[in-house]
Amino acid sequence: MSEDPVIDPAAPPVATIATLGQHEGQTVTLRGWLYNLRESGKLLFPIFRDGTGTVQGVAHVKSVPAAVFEALKGLTQESSLIVTGKVRADKRAPGGYELDVENLQVVQRVPESDPYPITLKEHGVDFLQERRHLWVRTPRQSAILRIRAEIMRAAAEYFDQNGYIRTDPPILTPAACEGTSTLFPVDYFGDPAYLTQSGQLYVESTALALGKVYSFGPTFRAEKSKTRRHLTEFWMVEPEAAFMDLDGLMELAENYLSHIVQSVLKNRSAELTVIGRDVSKLQTILPPFPRLRYDEAVDLLNEAHKKGELEQPFTYGNDFGSPDETWLSSQYDRPVMVHRYPADVKAFYMEPDPADSRFALCVDVLAPEGYGEVIGGSQRVSSYELLKSRIEQHHLPMEAFEWYLDLRRYGSVPHAGFGMGIERVVAWICSLDHVRETIPFPRMLHRMYP
Ligand code: 4AD
Ligand code: MG
Repeated sequence: MSEDPVIDPAAPPVATIATLGQHEGQTVTLRGWLYNLRESGKLLFPIFRDGTGTVQGVAHVKSVPAAVFEALKGLTQESSLIVTGKVRADKRAPGGYELDVENLQVVQRVPESDPYPITLKEHGVDFLQERRHLWVRTPRQSAILRIRAEIMRAAAEYFDQNGYIRTDPPILTPAACEGTSTLFPVDYFGDPAYLTQSGQLYVESTALALGKVYSFGPTFRAEKSKTRRHLTEFWMVEPEAAFMDLDGLMELAENYLSHIVQSVLKNRSAELTVIGRDVSKLQTILPPFPRLRYDEAVDLLNEAHKKGELEQPFTYGNDFGSPDETWLSSQYDRPVMVHRYPADVKAFYMEPDPADSRFALCVDVLAPEGYGEVIGGSQRVSSYELLKSRIEQHHLPMEAFEWYLDLRRYGSVPHAGFGMGIERVVAWICSLDHVRETIPFPRMLHRMYP
């Protein structure tokens, strides 16, 4: 292996901890780091990690060369190393295997004078966040990132397999999509521009070109709120389909979320075990999902308030607050789809319900276990006149929306789409109490480092 000078060509084959099962009884090489070390006289019990998992090694003073025993004894946490050893099945081991150490090469020894800062004891969240670049190494954080990657893979896979074409919108944009209060301004060669809040307006354009499309990328909101659900930079996947109505959109949303959850159960079960997730709560995530009109949801909230389950009474006509969403989404064993909110509390581009124009043809999907909104979507205004008057009512700059109005001038059709926030879904699937652990480097009101 010429590209990797530290590997001895005579060394046993390189394996990963996740696939040790394929090497039972064989001697393999693992490349990674020392996660922990327990010493008991003549016996050393190092725990190795390599990014795919952790495995306990066993080294007896008599079974390894003296130099290897010495190198391992007192080895500091997170020192990088290459270890060879024999894979032994052990029912008590968390991954089912242990490694009988035969040889060890330390790649970099972390000095005692400057030890790895994150020890195995409990640390405060601020301390860990400040060291996020190291915190991601801990088994729990790595497992979450592996689950996130599977969620993103499955999220793209569903659309790729169902005739949706990926068309990514720009990140630098001339105008707001989701209201002007949460825009991040950018100086674009002297002209004002903004980081995108949503690619929706652009995928509406590509949907009318290609039929069914989706986008998948980072979006930005200058959210001043410090909640456990809000990031200022988050990833959103946004399907959009020509000729789709609200019913079609709700069907898409329930099939989509179910596909993602079932993929994680199938492909990331080891990681779900590492983080201690109760998977029985995920196994139920299959279509159909319960559907509630906004009005029905309000009735439920009022009853809950009467019973003392909700502190604040709900004012009809408002959007749901966090406690309302949390309460609603705790009532079901699968996501609940709340549709037809009052048009006044929703975005300018939402199609009014022809049956009662006070309501919008929109849906919010609230994840169970109190996780709240993970998907927001709607049918879009298809009439030129109505869209133009909405842009005026919302005091949006008409020039910036001329191209968007063209979509209603030339071959307008009913169409619909939604946006799903990846971090909200990761938080729910991993059962995390804050979105800050769902993304490698979270961006929040008070956090830009590292
Ligand atoms: O409900 P939202 O604001 O909808 C839109 O942006 C539409 N234009 C999407 C569309 O129809 N194409 O945001 C969609 C989703 C939310 O349901 C939530 O999951 C996530 O994006 N989201 C956030 N996630 C983390 N931090 C934030 N600050 C978020 N704001 C929205
Ligand atoms: Mg929303």
